[in-house]
Amino acid sequence: MVTPDLFTPFQMGAVPLPNRIVMAALTRCRAGAGNVPTSLNALYYSQRASAGLIIAEATQVSPQGVGYPRTPGIYSDAQVAGWQQVTTAVHQAGGRIFLQLWHVGRLSHPLLQEQGQLPVAPSAIAATGHVTLADGSQHPYVTPRPLETEEIAQLILDFRKGAENARRAGFDGIELHAAFGYLFDQFLQDNSNHRTDLYGGSLENRARFLLEVTEAVIGVWGAGRVGIKLSPSNTYHNMADSDPIRTFSYVVEQLNHFPLSHLQIMETGESDLRHGGTLIPTAIFRPLYRGNLMVNGGYDYEKANQVLARQGADLVSFGRLFIANPDLPQRFAQGSQLNPVDRSTYYTEGPKGYIDYPTLNPTKAAAAFGA
Ligand SMILES: Cc1cc2nc3c(=O)[nH]c(=O)nc-3n(C[C@H](O)[C@H](O)[C@H](O)COP(=O)(O)O)c2cc1C
Repeated sequence: MVTPDLFTPFQMGAVPLPNRIVMAALTRCRAGAGNVPTSLNALYYSQRASAGLIIAEATQVSPQGVGYPRTPGIYSDAQVAGWQQVTTAVHQAGGRIFLQLWHVGRLSHPLLQEQGQLPVAPSAIAATGHVTLADGSQHPYVTPRPLETEEIAQLILDFRKGAENARRAGFDGIELHAAFGYLFDQFLQDNSNHRTDLYGGSLENRARFLLEVTEAVIGVWGAGRVGIKLSPSNTYHNMADSDPIRTFSYVVEQLNHFPLSHLQIMETGESDLRHGGTLIPTAIFRPLYRGNLMVNGGYDYEKANQVLARQGADLVSFGRLFIANPDLPQRFAQGSQLNPVDRSTYYTEGPKGYIDYPTLNPTKAAAAFGA
């Protein structure tokens, strides 16, 4: 067998990819009014269409799932129409795009919720930290309202509806955001889940919500078009588990029962290991999972090719490198220098730091936005 590298095509479930260079989901807080994607978002994603796969930013499945200003949704018709512009632009540019479905759980705030309600979570345990609103003001996380058992069925339906809407919007598949301390992760890890019903306590119970949603959204998409992102090593957003290797090994093994497109493991993020965590090597999970494994977190060209060559993963996703380098595959192929990323414009409004990173072969499209 030929040793695979980033440019070896890959059949990811039902989706053929021309290369293994995946753009990881990246929240950029640039949706329009009503959290509707705009033509600016369409241009940003189409600039990055040479990725083997784009995973579009975390997108709330309901108004309750929101945690940040100007993040897109996938629950209204206007949002579906907004996303249609994005998927059309990416497909016209020759790319493939999944949508990442999201609910932040306790990491929301009454000021972000309709009628000022409390955010919901598995248990009444607040995270430390704060939300930042559109006006820049910061507000400490509140103690969330624990979900009634009966309400969980509605949450599963919200994800199912999000999956249906993503299909209507022309995506090629979806990824569930079960990483980084958001709602799924809050159920999985035992420091944020103290429930005593069917959704808490044993490992089996803590994984139930994620597995039930997985089944529901595969019911919409069929085989090979649903992926899941986990972050077993993440300690950001106060995440901790009494035995993370056991917890995540169980989850990964359970995922073998579903015809997923991929399992993405975020190994380290920009912020998590600073918060006292230790890295759980992906090599622990690789033999447990029989599907397509995507790794993420701090990869560059060399490290990515090394992990593919030693069969440590099938795909590699890149976050920050894709923010700053729309033509990342071309730069990798040519060994060109990479643009440095500007953190100060990660979450700001407008075209600056969004669609104006230089490409090796300049195009004129960004000029329409004054970039
Ligand atoms: C600005 C920014 C926004 C992010 N937004 C998301 C997101 O919406 N969903 C997600 O799963 N991860 C998100 N992440 C994490 C990235 O997808 C990725 O896991 C992380 O940056 C590590 O990969 P990298 O080292 O290649 O950047 C974000 C990271 C950054 C820097």
